[in-house]
Amino acid sequence: MTHGATVSRPYVHGRHPRESERLRDQAGTLIDLLHSDTQYPAGSQVLEAGCGVGAQTVTLAQRSPAARFVSMDISAESIVEARRVTQAAGLTNVQFQQADVFALPFADESFDHVFVCFLLEHLSRPAEALSGLKGVLRPGGTITVIEGDHGSTFFYPDSGAAHRAIQCQVELQRRAGGNALIGRQLYPLMVAAGFDGVRVSPRTAYADSGRPDLVDGLTRKTFTAMIEGIRTAAIEAGITDPDAFDAGIRDLYRAAEADGVFCYTFFKAVGTKRPRG
Ligand SMILES: C[S@@+](CC[C@H](N)C(=O)[O-])C[C@H]1O[C@@H](n2cnc3c(N)ncnc32)[C@H](O)[C@@H]1O
Repeated sequence: MTHGATVSRPYVHGRHPRESERLRDQAGTLIDLLHSDTQYPAGSQVLEAGCGVGAQTVTLAQRSPAARFVSMDISAESIVEARRVTQAAGLTNVQFQQADVFALPFADESFDHVFVCFLLEHLSRPAEALSGLKGVLRPGGTITVIEGDHGSTFFYPDSGAAHRAIQCQVELQRRAGGNALIGRQLYPLMVAAGFDGVRVSPRTAYADSGRPDLVDGLTRKTFTAMIEGIRTAAIEAGITDPDAFDAGIRDLYRAAEADGVFCYTFFKAVGTKRPRG
């Protein structure tokens, strides 16, 4: 997110050291909110698609120590980092593989569960990705998808400049073929992919100065850092100018002050592949 070639060369999260750090801060802060109800049975085989630098992998593998994970990503560089963090955490139940979610190198119906987090938002064909993932899932197996939705962001004090800065990220992601507003679309996407019993739960992350860890981890280091990271790309793309963008960023940091409030909603969807017969 920090380089300026977002439009011509789609940005893929997680490849830069600062981005890796941001994704780990984000994961640390939001673990309970996103993962408290995700646990896989002993012996089950779980595919994590788009694992990135392993920000969710560590939590997944720690929470289900007797499940076996195959975590894949298209970026070889991210896989190296993900392997390093899982080894540093002492985890032995994760295997990594470089792969494209649109050309999965796995046998049909070879996984009991699939887990996807912050991947669909970067794909121009999220429905196709879901249908490929359904193919490698066994009948009766589950898929869990977590995505954000930048349109769910609100804060106090409110600021038009801050909303416009966020909109720059939405627009850059759209031009790169992704969708930063995909959270609200998980239900129709999963149903269209043919999953049964789809349940979506919005998970709202809320930060005020009564929770300084969240103000720091969510408002500052996750969300505002992410928007701040697209400054050059947004200016080069001609969708903002330095003064307007910087005013928006200032106002986002303002929401992290003592009387500030910040709110963002993630969407977690779980569906099942119809059992045979
Ligand atoms: C925002 S990161 C999310 C990483 C991780 N799931 C997390 O929650 O921190 C998106 C990841 O999707 C990966 N990705 C993008 N397109 C992909 C594709 N076609 N196949 C597999 N992974 C892909 C990127 O390399 C990147 O690591």
